[in-house]
Amino acid sequence: MLRRLVTAAEAALVDPACRTERARAEAMRPAMAALLADDEPIAEQACQPLQGAAVGNLLYADPERRFHILAVVFPEGTSSGVHWHGCWGLIGYLRGGDEETRYRWDGEQPVEVSRHVWHQGDITTLLPEEDEGWHRVRNPGPGTGVSIHVLCRTPADHPHRFWDRDRRQVVDFPFREAAPGRWRAELAP
Ligand SMILES: [Fe+2]
Repeated sequence: MLRRLVTAAEAALVDPACRTERARAEAMRPAMAALLADDEPIAEQACQPLQGAAVGNLLYADPERRFHILAVVFPEGTSSGVHWHGCWGLIGYLRGGDEETRYRWDGEQPVEVSRHVWHQGDITTLLPEEDEGWHRVRNPGPGTGVSIHVLCRTPADHPHRFWDRDRRQVVDFPFREAAPGRWRAELAP
């Protein structure tokens, strides 16, 4: 089923009818739904945190560097902080609950616009073209949250920034490979 999602992403990226981020994401949605409904969607190892902390376990990287697929793991009680994605994403919730808060940039800071708890089988999008790039994910529990992310570009090139609330600044928040195939967003030193 992961292969089907890869094939759907590849097809959407070359389909002339999929000109917008939304059209691309919607074209991938049925394959994501099938993966989430599978009895054994991904290896159990890919559902594990790294040293007790949140991590993105790489499931697939497009050889043409157009997209990648991560199993994003949030242990109970952990949060991503408020951050921004600079290009499209499709997120499917595989295990546990995730509370997602969405924000709109008002010219000076991210302002909360919605809050939603996602459950297993739910699918959502990140569409910066539609001002949908800012969000925060938090796992209120119980249990570890695992979601499948199809994200633009490679993990190392994925445009990702963080809202530093204390300094009231947007700062770089690149994905770094903390262990082989295991990526974590870290603030630039
Ligand atoms: Fe995110």
